[in-house]
Amino acid sequence: MDDVDWVKIDHAYGVKRLYGIGAEKFGEYHGGYLNFGWWEKADTYIEAAEALVHKMAEILGLNDQSRLLDVACGMGPQDVYLHRHFGAEIDAVEILWNQAQVALARVKQAGMEGKVRIHHGTATRLPFERNSFTHVLAIEGSQHFNTREDFFREAFRVLKPKGVIALADFTITRPPRSLLEKIVVRAAQHFWACPNANVYNAEIFKQKLEKSGFINVSISEEGKYTIPGYFREQIRKETIKAGIKIRGWIPTRAGFFVNYAVFRAFCRGLLEYCIVRAEKP
Ligand SMILES: C[S@@+](CC[C@H](N)C(=O)[O-])C[C@H]1O[C@@H](n2cnc3c(N)ncnc32)[C@H](O)[C@@H]1O
Repeated sequence: MDDVDWVKIDHAYGVKRLYGIGAEKFGEYHGGYLNFGWWEKADTYIEAAEALVHKMAEILGLNDQSRLLDVACGMGPQDVYLHRHFGAEIDAVEILWNQAQVALARVKQAGMEGKVRIHHGTATRLPFERNSFTHVLAIEGSQHFNTREDFFREAFRVLKPKGVIALADFTITRPPRSLLEKIVVRAAQHFWACPNANVYNAEIFKQKLEKSGFINVSISEEGKYTIPGYFREQIRKETIKAGIKIRGWIPTRAGFFVNYAVFRAFCRGLLEYCIVRAEKP
């Protein structure tokens, strides 16, 4: 792994502000996961985070013959989980150097170095040959990519024919109606590091995947299983305390604002959490 500044190359400064602080202090807190979780049957955050990862693996159809590319792997717990439970060989890409380092340490500790490889890079310039993977996964990363559409093109290039892509992502369900909604959406988009080019509804999402060459695109809106559960977790006293210890007061409060804005936007029918699946012909 090299320590090239991919954030600078990709102009992803907001991503560094959002996730770059405190990765080395995260340890086993929340199991290292950063996803919203799938709360249908889960009682704790780690159960929910792993239920979401498990669900995404089933949507992809992963097994021990799969060659998976996991884009925006964060601190890597999902890659350890996926190799352990599905046997897939995995390459994972993360833009933040400190998160990639933590992911690498986690993979080493699990004794999976030969089968799970962590790369420091960006989703929009994937460091792999065309037709390298049977599956591509991005869990809650693609809303940040600069742009999501550039990532679609890259994912299509590195997937083998008949390969499958699955994403957990966010869409806008309607335009903001009032000035207040407009201001809140803009501010949340800024703090959440979502480029303007990525803000659109499910229909446009589908069209963009098709324009990149994908077929059999399905997008399902699943906010009820993800957003309220995550919000409840984020407002627990223990979670706030742990956040301040790991990241400091200001980043934790800024994160809290994003979580609140996402939750309210979901409740007001402005934003959805989507599970997306598509295939390369
Ligand atoms: C919400 S976290 C999800 C992390 C992980 N998938 C998980 O579920 O725990 C989003 C991740 O996307 C990463 N990211 C953002 N832009 C990226 C890019 N252009 N290329 C690769 N990773 C990126 C961030 O650094 C962060 O780790």
